[in-house]
Amino acid sequence: MARTPKDRIRQRRDGHPPRVRRGSPPASGRTPPAERQPLPVGRRVPTSDDLEVSTYLEIARVREGEEPVSPPEAPTPPEAIAILDFGSQYSMLIARRVRECRVYCELVPHDAPWEQVARLRPRGFILSGGPASVYEDGAPMAPAYVFESGLPVLGICYGMQLLAHQLGGRVAPGQRREYGPAMIYQADRSAPIFEGLTSPMPVWMSHGDVIAEMPPGFQALAHSENSPIAVMGNGAGLLGLQFHPEVVHTPQGKRILENFLHNVCGCRGDWTPSSFVAESVRRIREQVGSGRVICALSGGVDSAVTAALVHRAVGDQLTCIFVNNGLLRREEPERVIATFRRHLKMNLVHAEATARFLDALAGVTDPEEKRRRIGETFIRVFEEEAERLGRVDFIAQGTTYPDVIESASSGSSAAAKIKTHHNVGGLPAHMTFTLIEPLRFLFKDEVRQVGLEVGLPEEMVFRHPFPGPGLAIRIIGEVTPEKLEILRAADWVVMDEIKRAQLYRDLWQAFAVLTDSRSVGVMGDFRTYGYVVALRVVTADDAMTADWARLPYEVLARISNRIVNEVPGVNRVAYDITSKPPGTIEWE
Ligand code: XMP
Repeated sequence: MARTPKDRIRQRRDGHPPRVRRGSPPASGRTPPAERQPLPVGRRVPTSDDLEVSTYLEIARVREGEEPVSPPEAPTPPEAIAILDFGSQYSMLIARRVRECRVYCELVPHDAPWEQVARLRPRGFILSGGPASVYEDGAPMAPAYVFESGLPVLGICYGMQLLAHQLGGRVAPGQRREYGPAMIYQADRSAPIFEGLTSPMPVWMSHGDVIAEMPPGFQALAHSENSPIAVMGNGAGLLGLQFHPEVVHTPQGKRILENFLHNVCGCRGDWTPSSFVAESVRRIREQVGSGRVICALSGGVDSAVTAALVHRAVGDQLTCIFVNNGLLRREEPERVIATFRRHLKMNLVHAEATARFLDALAGVTDPEEKRRRIGETFIRVFEEEAERLGRVDFIAQGTTYPDVIESASSGSSAAAKIKTHHNVGGLPAHMTFTLIEPLRFLFKDEVRQVGLEVGLPEEMVFRHPFPGPGLAIRIIGEVTPEKLEILRAADWVVMDEIKRAQLYRDLWQAFAVLTDSRSVGVMGDFRTYGYVVALRVVTADDAMTADWARLPYEVLARISNRIVNEVPGVNRVAYDITSKPPGTIEWE
């Protein structure tokens, strides 16, 4: 059967194992590289598209000497699962998969106190994988409440080894580490965890330790060629999986998680965008009362959904501030204004600050300095606009769950990180707002679903992420009005062709970069000496890793021809085929 363009750009995701950092196998064979080596975190916080706007505001609040604001609690739905994080690079994926099964869950540190977990009133626990070996000194253990609660527990990889180790079994280094695809064979096909699954079944393994002895009361429910105990259970809600059900390379993995959630924990699975919206609207109304709220709109998905949700809750008590920094794509400012002011009928302050941003960027070539100046200018413009509004009580921000997890796991808030990088000044001390973060516990795909639910147009909800500093970091070297025009025109062609080929939704990001290289060309009878434009088109499940999209040649050819013909000043187009890592998505 002929492959469609979409099949082709998905080629890597479907045909290859997940990309992990390469390294020589560990000498002991105990811990595979995927678990031991966390993916490198870039110099920037790889997170929501509205990060910059929201963190600059957060920095503004958490000024030197001020107490950080404690994060608001999540709404607690009737059923929830607590996932204890032992440090696997896949922990966040487990949370995503559980949410895909419509069960609310939170990822909590493995040593979270009971009070933090009790708030969720969990129906069960999942113990994640992790890089340690359970028998090593100082290896993290599951807290006693996990076993004392009498609730179902699913241990995944290291989590399974913890079950064995802590409940009276024995874990030992395996003869051979098992890393990559494997087949498992069920011993007991009637086990509730196997409902609807095939045997043998392909799974993704990533471990070096094995269960040498099961704890009393446990049985082996499945084996693989290398692991006599690939699945174990005690028939009373405690289960261990040696493989990773959360990764796409365990094709029936989601069904296994579903079986645990439904058949073992008794969850119904009623966590939906509409139930979330109803609960959030109720909570925002309760919190805001008759107060006034402001929200900085960047044009990105997260701040748009935040604004729409808060607007649904408190209507005209919300005023959105949209700062046009002059660094947006062609027609973007008009689109934001049309959507929010005309279509959604929100109070919208449009601060036209292009000249101020371009002045601040004049002569600057260093990417981090560009970011710093953009952040600083943003804060000053925002401050002036907020002052003009008079008394404001709350500020709504589009922080999402990956931002929260990322800052928790790295031990510092996103704001603190950006602050160190950018040294951005804050708002004046008299401007203190209470924070509302309705998306704080949602993944990007859930944010999008909520966006649809509250009536945002699809075009806005499915937008690609766009960096806070905008086109400034896609122009290598100094940012000038002329270069911005060239880049906007080239970028327009890229978007137009990607959308025309119906590839937009399959891509994480697609954009043009204006390099500072010029090259010789011939157009008609004339020699030209113009800029080189680079195309950056990537696929990713999140922005931590990315791969260049295998765009069909015809699409690449059309983009190249059109840019060279339609964009004055550009005479060459190059396609960036660097993966992340080692590259980054943006060029600066
Ligand atoms: P990199 O280039 O680090 O990008 O692979 C990862 C994701 O983050 C976006 N990005 C930014 N977003 N401010 C932002 O708000 C920034 O300074 C920034 N730099 C990169 C990038 O577009 C990608 O989605």
